[in-house]
Amino acid sequence: SEAIANFVLTDRLVSSFLPRRLRQGHKGQHGRGILVAGSPGMSGAAILAGRAALRTGVGLLQIIAPRQISPLVDEGVVEATVWAGPEEEYLGLDSWTRIRERCQGAQALAVGPGLGQNPEFLPVLEKVLQSISLPLVLDADALNLVAAAPDILAGRQGHGSRILTPHPGEMARLCRLTVAEVQANRLELAISKAVEWEATVVLKGATTVVAAPDGRAFLNPSGNPGLGAGGTGDVLTGSILAWLAQGVDPVEAACLGVYIHGKAGDLLAQTYGFSGYTAGEVADMLPRARRALE
Ligand code: APR
Ligand code: MG
Repeated sequence: SEAIANFVLTDRLVSSFLPRRLRQGHKGQHGRGILVAGSPGMSGAAILAGRAALRTGVGLLQIIAPRQISPLVDEGVVEATVWAGPEEEYLGLDSWTRIRERCQGAQALAVGPGLGQNPEFLPVLEKVLQSISLPLVLDADALNLVAAAPDILAGRQGHGSRILTPHPGEMARLCRLTVAEVQANRLELAISKAVEWEATVVLKGATTVVAAPDGRAFLNPSGNPGLGAGGTGDVLTGSILAWLAQGVDPVEAACLGVYIHGKAGDLLAQTYGFSGYTAGEVADMLPRARRALE
């Protein structure tokens, strides 16, 4: 009853969401994306998300990571500019100034992969939600922090559009449900939360649901169990960031991100079957998966 219209993503539908590139286009016109990610032991999350953003065609990428790991991230994503956050291991209160400064002149922001759950970052997230008007992706530890204070998702003040990309465990924490309850009710839950939070909700897993704040939902048929391996979610986040930065509408950016990410996994499965390919390889396969839609 609540679902107005559900769609299954297809090549045809998703290709209609692809942005066009001008022949004379330069990097300044292909979007500047900001990625806030990483912590000691999880620098790979920042690297994978960054690599995926580049493989999705972002014009310029800036990564903000905690000081201790910023050299690793810098080396891991040579095409990006890396800004060390003020704090040593986990971004905290003082990172707000840096984030705000980097967001000027950018088109999209993603926060969360491998960030860790320093409670001092929660007020920063709150400020991001209140006063940054860029399209925003929240993933992983950003969602885990928000789950400790879910009210910060309520009370929208007309700021930038939001995309939340929980896996079932993160969704369960956000909704105060069990994972089994989330999985038993994926479509309806994603839709009702998208409406409630006025955000696009990407509920990941086999047949990812993309639910829009207006109650529409898109089901993703692409992908395979080979994607069930560490880091593939970070790749998705970077890719959605890049579509947003290129000016794609949030619901369409989420659909493009999810569908092409799954297709990249399916291309890898042609060689490897349903296991043994890595998140980095998924990132590197994104352009070929996209090109097959053009
Ligand atoms: N079929 C299709 N797609 C799948 C399948 C499947 N069987 N299994 C997983 N996927 C896709 C999901 O839809 C999603 O896009 O792989 C991706 C997995 O993303 P995450 O669950 O976020 O995994 P990842 O981020 O790699 O996990 C690393 O990040 O979010 C934290 O708690 C998480 O510590 C973990 C870390
Ligand atoms: Mg994840």
